[in-house]
Amino acid sequence: MAKINKAVFPVAGLGTRFLPVTKASPKEMLPIVDKPLIQYAAEEAEQAGATQLVFVTGRHKRSIEDHFDKSPELESELESAGKDKLLTIVRTILPEHVSCIYLRQAEALGLGHAVLCAKPVVGNEPFAILLADDLIDNAAKGVCEQMAELHERTGASILSVEEVPPNETHKYGIVETEAQPDGSLRVTSIVEKPKPEEAPSNLAVVGRYLLTPAIFDKLEQTQAGAGGEIQLTDAIAALLKEETVIAHPFEGKRYDCGSKEGYLEATVELALKHPELGESFRDYLKSLAL
Ligand code: G1P
Repeated sequence: MAKINKAVFPVAGLGTRFLPVTKASPKEMLPIVDKPLIQYAAEEAEQAGATQLVFVTGRHKRSIEDHFDKSPELESELESAGKDKLLTIVRTILPEHVSCIYLRQAEALGLGHAVLCAKPVVGNEPFAILLADDLIDNAAKGVCEQMAELHERTGASILSVEEVPPNETHKYGIVETEAQPDGSLRVTSIVEKPKPEEAPSNLAVVGRYLLTPAIFDKLEQTQAGAGGEIQLTDAIAALLKEETVIAHPFEGKRYDCGSKEGYLEATVELALKHPELGESFRDYLKSLAL
């Protein structure tokens, strides 16, 4: 199986789109049914072989660390109450061989800056980046694993992409691509959040990247761009002049859980798939007969 070792989770953002719920709790801890968003992303990385999860955090994000930590009081209470199933759930949030590393991004200088903060830990190897507010459901094979396989075949950096309505290009990094003889889509240009009339296509980068460590040199040279922030997109634009960058139209369904609508859709659809709740929840939705 193709593998990546390290996955970076930029989680320092303020989550203003979800205020007031994100005033004192991280947006990455918003639950979808019974797991927080960040756990779905961590599981996807772990299924792709990641053994080191690197969280680039900020103030007010302590609950993310607590979530992946042991909780001796809770465990002993569940144990003495004989609640074995729940005990297993809290003990297996991550497998033993996976470790979590937390770095602080002291100032919110942008996604590119957050990724650069991870440089001392990632070192000189390809790594994945997962933005937890894009939840991508794929029971067969997670997007992170799909990217790891494509990277193993090509050695290239990979950007997961999907088509978006042309009037939504201003929300995403947008790529222009060229089909290669092997069927892959080579990225020829990338631009951050272009207006629809300026967008080179409607192929949007979603929150899953697999990049070679050469991105760090590019990030170090990147000046503040769109929104006054150091943009990962701008560093990728520099990278693709020197290395192959491939756009990967991933398999799976993405929910934009950074928006209230996407969050609600994910909640409803994952609840319908939930092994214990699914059936009764379906009946409930039917009973609403909207
Ligand atoms: C970030 C990136 C953008 C990408 C998006 C995917 O934007 O800057 O290029 O398309 O994630 O979710 P953000 O959503 O943080 O504004």
